[in-house]
Amino acid sequence: MAEVVIVPDERAGGRLAAARIARLVTAKPDAVLGLATGATPLSTWAALAEYGLDLSRVRGFALDEYVGLPAGHPESYREVLMRTVVKPLGLSPDLVHVPGDDGGDIATAGQRYEEAIRAAGGVDLQVLGIGRTGHIGFNEPGSSLASLTRVKTLTEQTRRDNARFFASLDEVPRHCITQGLGTILRARELLLLAWGEAKAEALAAAVEGPVTASLPASAIQLHPEVTVIVDEAAASRLRFADYYRYAWENRPDWARDEDLPSSVTGA
Ligand code: GLP
Repeated sequence: MAEVVIVPDERAGGRLAAARIARLVTAKPDAVLGLATGATPLSTWAALAEYGLDLSRVRGFALDEYVGLPAGHPESYREVLMRTVVKPLGLSPDLVHVPGDDGGDIATAGQRYEEAIRAAGGVDLQVLGIGRTGHIGFNEPGSSLASLTRVKTLTEQTRRDNARFFASLDEVPRHCITQGLGTILRARELLLLAWGEAKAEALAAAVEGPVTASLPASAIQLHPEVTVIVDEAAASRLRFADYYRYAWENRPDWARDEDLPSSVTGA
């Protein structure tokens, strides 16, 4: 079972997620992070910036990208990552990869991306948000649980959800390239974040429902190292919420991973 941590709000969740990342990069300065875009991880990046860690050796692999946007489009995930993660946190742009951005044939870009992840030694920690269709990355319902990075067609629901970032719905691309569920499951550790009531149903299905391609985020149940950090609203449909709270409050001292090592705090 995933470890589910219910926090009062998004800010507290961001702090907890950032603590987990800070611990990793302190132990391994060239750690490989799987980078999610979307609004969900923003509080995590903000909290991580406050540690003032040197992240210049951290390597990053984006989860997904639109296909068909002109290079440099402000809403391409490459640009979003540059704006919200790479620049504010001081990552080295050359060490951050986005699927489909190597200038090669898009049809085979997925294979090259898989090879690049493998060559980097695999993803140490993958940050994930969840879409209202239950997608992670851009793996929409029906995605194979074993899928690898490939080009996909977005659902209309996801296009509508993401239209807020574009001038009109028409401008939202119909295609994307995304790490597959199989790719995500190869990461050593997963951190799934969700805030707000709109995510409650998909989140409950992902954590407590059957593992099914119809709800791609349910694939996380197949992973041995998953932490799900949710605020009260996103947790509102969880059947075992009381148990998650109890388990978190009574976690053993050695598992208190929100207490940072002194090498990070300088204490
Ligand atoms: C988007 C992205 C996902 C993201 C999810 C949730 O479509 N492709 O990577 O995690 O949907 O987005 P948000 O965090 O903005 O709610």
